[in-house]
Amino acid sequence: MALRALTGIKPTGEPHVGNWLGAIKPALALASAYETYYFIADYHALNIIYDAEALRKNTLSIAATYLAFGLDPERSVFYRQSDIPEVFELAWILACFTPKGLMNRAHSYKDAVAKNQEAGRDPDQNINMGLYSYPILMAADILIFSADVVPVGADQKQHVEIARDIAERINHNYKSALFTLPEPRIDDQVKTIVGLDGRKMSKSYDNTIPLFLEEKPLLKRINQIVTNSQTPEEPKDPEQSPVFQLHKLLLPAGEEAMLRGRYQAGGMGWGQAKKDYFEALNAVLQGPRQEYRRLMADPGALQTVLARGRDKARDRASVFLGKVRSTIGIR
Ligand code: TRP
Repeated sequence: MALRALTGIKPTGEPHVGNWLGAIKPALALASAYETYYFIADYHALNIIYDAEALRKNTLSIAATYLAFGLDPERSVFYRQSDIPEVFELAWILACFTPKGLMNRAHSYKDAVAKNQEAGRDPDQNINMGLYSYPILMAADILIFSADVVPVGADQKQHVEIARDIAERINHNYKSALFTLPEPRIDDQVKTIVGLDGRKMSKSYDNTIPLFLEEKPLLKRINQIVTNSQTPEEPKDPEQSPVFQLHKLLLPAGEEAMLRGRYQAGGMGWGQAKKDYFEALNAVLQGPRQEYRRLMADPGALQTVLARGRDKARDRASVFLGKVRSTIGIR
């Protein structure tokens, strides 16, 4: 039987090139080798998005994004986290086996505390229990479907290790193999995708390239990528150039070497380099952009896809939760 891969995506805003190359594309590629589960982690977004309209809109937009990039809802299980109440019941059960100290050591919580301390604020300021317990809900997402493999960004690796740790504790306590121990899977090649300013592409730096811009604004955005003041004639160092770093991600190895050569040879100005990147990016985004627009114009159809995913996912989740309950003595 095929191994099972599961991954969640947080609907936090307009998806960008970094999300696509770093998360969406590698995750969707797994569908050919694994039994795949993809879901929208809307309750994970609730600890930061308190605007109902924004949360609703982001959720549909993420669903449309995955479908536009080729997610096949017949082949994979594709659902919204909040549609599966079993996940939240399991999260409570897991919480009862999660040492508080384990949560104290979670990076995102620790970072938030450190930021407060640096700013001389109360260490708990603006930290809600949703942030603190985030890894427990994520463990429930993973464990309820007995995922073997969890493709995530490097920043989420610790969360998968936490899920594994909690699963081991429960298995050990009941001397059973109830929970499958999940493995994080990090795609090294695309670990960090640079943004317009050369730092990691991230909404918080306002340096992203949104995926579904029309051609003109897309070109405008690409023209904002930072460059140095070298003249067209001068040879350029591709490793120091965010345009090259972004462009190469779209190319097979042979073409990457050719493009590197063009930078090094000199004779190509930054305007040309950006135009070439625009052409390459636009060519791959054109189809998904159209499909995304079509889906967003038909929210009813999107809801139907998600409802079918919910039915499939809930059937499986409720059987598994039944086993958990009887193992722990709740039924
Ligand atoms: N925490 C993940 C993120 O921020 C999203 C997520 C929620 C997730 N539950 C998950 C990823 C389960 C993998 C498996 O990106």
